[in-house]
Amino acid sequence: MQTAIIFGATSGIGKGLLALLISHGYKVGVTGRRTELLNQLKTTYGNRIETSTHDVQEEATSSKCFTNLINALGGSVDLVIHSSGIGYENPTLDWNKEKDTLLTNVMGATLIYNLVFRFFKSQGYGHLVAISSIASLRGNRSSPAYFASKAFQVNYLESLYFKTKEVPGNQVFVTDIRPGFIDTKMALGDGIFWMASTQKACKQIFKAIQKKKRRVYITKRWNLIAWVLKIVPSWLQRKVM
Ligand SMILES: NC(=O)c1ccc[n+]([C@@H]2O[C@H](COP(=O)([O-])OP(=O)(O)OC[C@H]3O[C@@H](n4cnc5c(N)ncnc54)[C@H](OP(=O)(O)O)[C@@H]3O)[C@@H](O)[C@H]2O)c1
Repeated sequence: MQTAIIFGATSGIGKGLLALLISHGYKVGVTGRRTELLNQLKTTYGNRIETSTHDVQEEATSSKCFTNLINALGGSVDLVIHSSGIGYENPTLDWNKEKDTLLTNVMGATLIYNLVFRFFKSQGYGHLVAISSIASLRGNRSSPAYFASKAFQVNYLESLYFKTKEVPGNQVFVTDIRPGFIDTKMALGDGIFWMASTQKACKQIFKAIQKKKRRVYITKRWNLIAWVLKIVPSWLQRKVM
């Protein structure tokens, strides 16, 4: 039986991917801060899942959580999906919100990427999938820390991709998932356009995982926005956004 761990499976994209992994025969370890939601998932999926509560901002708890789940899954893991993340609309640059975002999306995410990569290296195989964002491509005046944190994630993931060549056998993979707007509580802002349902987005993410894609925009139409974002000059973005 294939095994997976999803960090951040109590809601949104992580929860949607959990349902898909279960339907494809995986046994899955799932995490989040909200124990009551993890217990609800346990009631739904029974012994097909293992749960572990942690706050990704707490280094020791997160490391222990990862070890506990590996052991509960029998000592090996094929796939880890990192979907934990937060974001705020923060036009006034409230420091607590900026800091919270960085502690979760930069420090917390890097800790998980680091633990997972080193585990896969020792295991000799494994697939790390991280949900970054199309927000990684540019700055943004309403949510500076969120957009910058996603740029950090994308760069770190590319570094890990480069490091996969250090693992003999070429059996460690890194996939960077860059969603546009997905209908979860995370979708920031008013007047959101091209919002995809969680179900549609997760189906496309799962396909990308199966194909071991290096990076993918979700849904597919966000490839167009990515292309525009990469070429639009800052002065024009400043004027219109
Ligand atoms: N929805 C979108 O439009 C969109 C677009 C681009 C990128 N993304 C990215 O997709 C990822 C998943 O977001 P989502 O849309 O599925 O939002 P979500 O429904 O809010 O899910 C976020 C998940 O992260 C977990 N989490 C948050 N802070 C945590 C912490 N400190 N420690 C441990 N777990 C934590 C949450 O669990 P607990 O609350 O139980 O801890 C939850 O399971 C995020 O990285 C987000 O930036 C989303």
